[in-house]
Amino acid sequence: MTDTPRYHPGFGNHVSTEAVPGALPIGRNSPQHVPFGLYAEQLSGTAFTAPRHENRRSWLYRLRPTAQHPAFTRYDGAPNLRAAPFDTPPSPNRMRWDPPPWPETPTDWLDGLVTYGGNGSVADQTGVAIHLYAATADMDRAFFSADGEWLIVPQEGRLAIDTELGRLDVAPLQIAVIPRGVRFRIALPDGRARGYVLENHGAPFRLPDLGPIGANGLANPRDFESPAAWFEDRDEPCTVIQKFQGALWQTRLDHSPFDVVAWHGNLAPYRYDLTRFNTINTVSFDHPDPSIFTVLTSPSDTPGTANCDFVIFPPRWMVAEGTFRPPWFHRNVMSEFMGLIAGAYDAKEGGGFIPGGASLHNQMNGHGPDQASYEKAVASDLKPIKIDGTMAFMFETRHVVRTTAWAQTSATMQLDYDDVWRGFPKATLPR
Ligand SMILES: [Fe+2]
Repeated sequence: MTDTPRYHPGFGNHVSTEAVPGALPIGRNSPQHVPFGLYAEQLSGTAFTAPRHENRRSWLYRLRPTAQHPAFTRYDGAPNLRAAPFDTPPSPNRMRWDPPPWPETPTDWLDGLVTYGGNGSVADQTGVAIHLYAATADMDRAFFSADGEWLIVPQEGRLAIDTELGRLDVAPLQIAVIPRGVRFRIALPDGRARGYVLENHGAPFRLPDLGPIGANGLANPRDFESPAAWFEDRDEPCTVIQKFQGALWQTRLDHSPFDVVAWHGNLAPYRYDLTRFNTINTVSFDHPDPSIFTVLTSPSDTPGTANCDFVIFPPRWMVAEGTFRPPWFHRNVMSEFMGLIAGAYDAKEGGGFIPGGASLHNQMNGHGPDQASYEKAVASDLKPIKIDGTMAFMFETRHVVRTTAWAQTSATMQLDYDDVWRGFPKATLPR
């Protein structure tokens, strides 16, 4: 189908949507007779007994029950996809990579995934996996992950994402989130696409609390968009691949899995336009910790310590007085994986961190501005300036990111990354 996707605005709303008028039952989730003989199916993203404000579930009304499928068998594709727990020895070294190469043969989004690292355990529902993708072919199969929700950050090329609950068009500077278990496939309107994925094994992403910021700011709920119901009535074979406890499995249906005619609930894929982020920052001196740029957070069992935060560094005015304006030197208990969607990042004006690339700064290992950024910042007269035409982001996670063998040995790894901090002159004390 080529019709333009339709959306329901709002984060975590209880949406009611039907692609065929009259398909959605009224008043009862599973009436004895569902309209048109559709099958009612509940999809839960949290435990049934999760507190109401955290509870996510949707009711799906479909042409056939999901349960109607042959047994899954192992799938040996996606040769560079890896899963937590990662058994490679963790490295304290700071790492940076050039963008991943384009595949030499037609490769769809799933087979084009390359895992850079991660932490935690799919079995324990903790931690994350960090993948990049470089794809040149449309998917003609469906995929879902039983291991977590997928936050997709396009860097180059649009994605046309068909999901069971509807369709999402997602371009660079937008993100998409696909809940755990929701089947989807991705086509490439521009012929090829590259970007980043955070697979979140922990609690579903939510909006951060705002505290003294007040009722508005950062990512505003109304700017998130979930798809309207959409379906395929297609009796043709379709492969479905799932990621389950780190391994890939496949089965073959005799029909399209995208056959949900209507649904209601608050568990759904969504997209968000990062340019709508209401950026908050200082108007006096210093600048807040980068948590002020949090778009979405996956909390852990420890209050205030995220399993993972998704943080962006968007265009913004810099007005702080008497202040070193770029990110300062720091060593953090949280570990930081960064990517760049567009432009330049203000702590790395010396080059080397380019759109499509990535960097990793693990727990307690020092990093910060490169020497070019440092010298520019201490020499500048602090007029208001606008950082523009840029969008960097960070996956910040409480556990050390263990990199995969691919990431450690890739030709894209910059073996001279430490050198960006090598030439700082010693401070001069008074004699
Ligand atoms: Fe950092």
